[in-house]
Amino acid sequence: MSDDTLRYTVFGHPVGHSLSPRIHRAFAHQCGIELDYGISDVPPDDFAAAVRDFFAGGGAGANVTVPHKRVAFELADNHSEAARRVGTANVLTPQADGSLRAHNTDGDGLVRDLAERHRVDLRGHDTLLLGAGGAAHGVAWSLLDAGVQRITVVNRTAASADALCDRLGEPERVRSRYWDDLDTIGSYDLIINATSAGVTGQSLSLPFSLVGARAFCYDLSYGAAATDFLAWARAANARLALDGLGMLVETAADTFELWHGKRPDTEVVYRQLRSTS
Ligand code: ATR
Repeated sequence: MSDDTLRYTVFGHPVGHSLSPRIHRAFAHQCGIELDYGISDVPPDDFAAAVRDFFAGGGAGANVTVPHKRVAFELADNHSEAARRVGTANVLTPQADGSLRAHNTDGDGLVRDLAERHRVDLRGHDTLLLGAGGAAHGVAWSLLDAGVQRITVVNRTAASADALCDRLGEPERVRSRYWDDLDTIGSYDLIINATSAGVTGQSLSLPFSLVGARAFCYDLSYGAAATDFLAWARAANARLALDGLGMLVETAADTFELWHGKRPDTEVVYRQLRSTS
């Protein structure tokens, strides 16, 4: 690797098991691009300084994951429309004028995974969004853009569900319901688990009545964190029970295209990861 090799990283905490370096290296190999993609595990107190140092040292771009996405948005000088509406960033890119630009590829990554890889026509779907934190914000606008008929946001803390609904600003298509009422709020065609329960090793104990006939169930996390939700979805006879691995690969592809101007083939990388993770 030469001295002028382009340097990228993913900031998070913890981030040691991130698949982003592997995905970006695979895309780079495909496209004949030489790059150095590392991992930056920094606690929240050190994040701003670490970002400044990385770009001052010539860093060409950074992905950002939990828990830094909101601060990444705030650190940036300017923002893409996708980042602005969500209020968080998973991509930071230095611009030619020296400014730092924030972008968010999460929502489009989910929609592309569902619509293109799994051939789900999202139009008209009655959608249940579980959770109202960063991950839920990341995907809500893109689901509306993709044409889902309605989103019902249910969150353990009701005020956060209401705040997300207000922010989405489409009262005819978006409503909130109480977590305690999950037993009685009917069934849905698409159920997205955007809670961090699986990540923290907690179980959600959801009623099977939520799962409509031929429903799609999707956990935004992947690996062990998605196991419980997917087991519940299968037990409830969901048509498809998916974790967020495909979304992760699609969000990385958007970032890769932004940085390198080339669209990688995501399917081959997705299959590789699926068979080894
Ligand atoms: P992330 O960036 O992963 O979305 P976050 O912004 O902290 O993380 O949001 C976590 C989400 O998971 C929240 O909606 C949280 O609900 P609260 O707002 O009530 O905290 C939800 N969550 C986490 N653990 C949960 C659990 N055991 N049951 C239900 N919801 C849970």
